[in-house]
This record gives sequence, C-alpha cells and structure tokens, in this order.
Amino acid sequence: MNTRIFEGVKTPFYYYDKELLERTLDAIEACTAGTPMKVHYAIKANSEPEILRIISARGFGADCVSGNEIKAAIKCGFRPENIYYAGVGKTDDEILTGIDFGIGCFNIESIEEIDILSELAAKRGKKVTVALRVNPNIDAHTHEYITTGLKENKFGIDMRVLDEGIKKVKESEYLDLGGLHFHIGSQITINEPFKILCERINDLKAKYRLEGIEFRFFNVGGGLGIDYDNPDENPIPDFASYFDTILSDLHLDQGQEVHCELGRAIVGQCGSLISKVVLVKKGLEKSFVIIDAGMSDLIRPALYGAHHKIENISEAGKAADKVYDVVGPICESSDVFGKDELLPDTKRGDLIALRSAGAYGSAMSSGYNMRDLPGHLIR
Ligand code: LLP
Repeated sequence: MNTRIFEGVKTPFYYYDKELLERTLDAIEACTAGTPMKVHYAIKANSEPEILRIISARGFGADCVSGNEIKAAIKCGFRPENIYYAGVGKTDDEILTGIDFGIGCFNIESIEEIDILSELAAKRGKKVTVALRVNPNIDAHTHEYITTGLKENKFGIDMRVLDEGIKKVKESEYLDLGGLHFHIGSQITINEPFKILCERINDLKAKYRLEGIEFRFFNVGGGLGIDYDNPDENPIPDFASYFDTILSDLHLDQGQEVHCELGRAIVGQCGSLISKVVLVKKGLEKSFVIIDAGMSDLIRPALYGAHHKIENISEAGKAADKVYDVVGPICESSDVFGKDELLPDTKRGDLIALRSAGAYGSAMSSGYNMRDLPGHLIR
C-alpha cells in the first residue's frame, strides 16, 4: 500500500482501492454475461455514494433494506426497476417510498406483511411486484449472528405456510407474484449450502408448477464470503465457482431469471481502515499498540469476534518480529482488533491498516464515545 497518498488525510479513515473494485466487477461480469443471472448489490455492505455510482454504472441492480437505502440507490444511478426491497419490519413510510419510486420488487418476509403492502398499494392505486422470502432451513455454516436461513431465525416465511402466502398474494389485485427470495447467511466460504439451496428451489418450483404457479425469477440472496486472512493472495473472490454452482444446479426454464444479492464479495476486499498509532503502551505482561480507530469505526471484531488482517504500513517490508495487542481507544474491553499480533517494531505515529474492511465497516460505524465518524478516501 502506497502510504504517500495518505499524507495529510485525517485518521482514521476508510481507504477504497477503486481499481480493485473495478476488477472485482469485471470478474463478476465475466461470469454472468449472457446468463440468466442478474446481480443486485446489497447496499447495506457499503453505501458510500462514490462506490454506489461505480457499481450502478455497470447496470447492476440494488438490494435495499430501508427507505433511505432506496433513496440513496436512486440518487446514485440505480434504475428503480432494478431496486429490490427486503426487510422484516418495513414501515408504512418506507413502503410508500418504494411504491412511489416504482421499485422493481418488494421481498415480503411474513404473511402479515402481505395485507399491509396490499393496502398501501391500493391506497396509491398501483400494482406492485413481490417475491416471497422463504426461510429454507439451511445451515450456512457461518457465525450464528450472520446465519439467516435456519427456522429459528426471524427472517422469511416458513416453508410450511408458504402455500397460504402464495394464495394471499394471488388474491390481491394490487400484488403481482414475481418470484421467490432466499438468503441463507453471510461470509459463506463453501459451496455446499448454495448447492442445497438450489435443490430446495428446484423442489419448490416443481411443486408449484403442479399447482399451475410459475415464477419469473428466483433470488438466491447474497452470502459469498471473502478471504480475510489472505487479502493480497485472494483479492477477488472465487466468483467462477459460485456462479457455476448456481447456474448449473438451478434448473431454470426459458425466460426465467436468477438473481443474487452480493454485498461483501463485491466491496469487502477493496477497503481498508487506515489508522494512526496514538502510543505504544509497554505493559508488564504485554505491549499494546493503541490506535486512533476503535470499535465505533469498525465493530466487526467486537461484535462477531472477526479478525481483520493488521499491517503496519509505515514499516512495510520490515520483519514482523514483535508481539503486540492492537487495541482502540474506546471504553470497552471488546475494543480490540488483534491479540498477540506479529508486527515490526511499532512506534507512535505509524500508520496501521485493518484490511478487508470494505464491507460492513463504514456502514456499521457509529459515534459512540462522541467520536467523529471515520472519513474516507477513494483512489
Ligand atoms: N441479502 C439479504 C437478504 C441480506 O440480509 C444480506 C446481508 C445480503 C443479501 C448480503 O449479504 P453478503 O453478500 O454481504 O454476505 N454485518 C455482518 C453481515 C450481515 C449481513 C446481513 N445481511 C458482518 O459484518 O459480517
């Protein structure tokens, strides 16, 4: 990482490597061009306007989970018909925002929501396209806080009441059933859960065909993981194997589409949180590198026990032969980025990079302890 471009930039800040983002998007396009796959970027992962504009310029759709995300998507160039809106608790205002912008689809998460959406669409006199989000009860083998497709999770409609949901949608003159939606979890690094998901979808498709119900699309959600341990060796996720799995295991009919909603896999590796060493505290047992970024800037380690690769970029190339705990300045014991990290001899003023922080980094930052929000630099 070339630290010259960071001179004079107030730390902590998120640095986004624009070239890597573009290469990541190229890799996705290479796998999906000419296939029935449409990619919707999950805006929740990172909603920096410049990043949104780079992604929308490729013609990707957007997966939104709030009225404000819908507004940001529109503002940054996503076409309304390519915006899909999911969420277990959409407020009336948010639903009306979506209806008024004419977004492409509402992903409905409960039987109860069907009536609410139908009433609001009737109020506006507009017919809206919906997909029912099905909870397929699949273990994604990821962290329990980011697994979503198990039946004990709050997300989606239980398969056992899906018939009722479909009947209700069909009965409403303001709802048009476009497809089924799924999302089984995040940071999934093996293909198996996606394969099982495709089997479930094939079964549902066959079952409903017998009842005369056809779907225009199936949305497999997001979840493809990234290599947090080796960001330089694996800067771009293995899209070929992910898309091959879905496109070959899912049995689509002519004209039927498959959609996915990738977030982390698109923006994760292009971002790093850059921070400065405030001081090195030499304890009796341990030495602490105290940096000016904390859990308010990047909460993933504190919240999920996640580990982002830590580098002293001011001493790049020097032997990493000293052991430190790298911690933030916030009054919480969980404000720790790494324990027993091997770094070069580190001193006050050095720049520290927390890698692979492009997804769910700045998007989850807060002002806890009345701290400033982290800045950003996109180059
Ligand atoms: N679609 C739905 C319905 C989702 O709930 C999510 C993420 C995605 C797509 C995008 O998933 P991705 O491709 O990024 O895995 N804050 C956590 C991750 C939470 C994911 C929430 N839903 C983290 O930092 O690991």
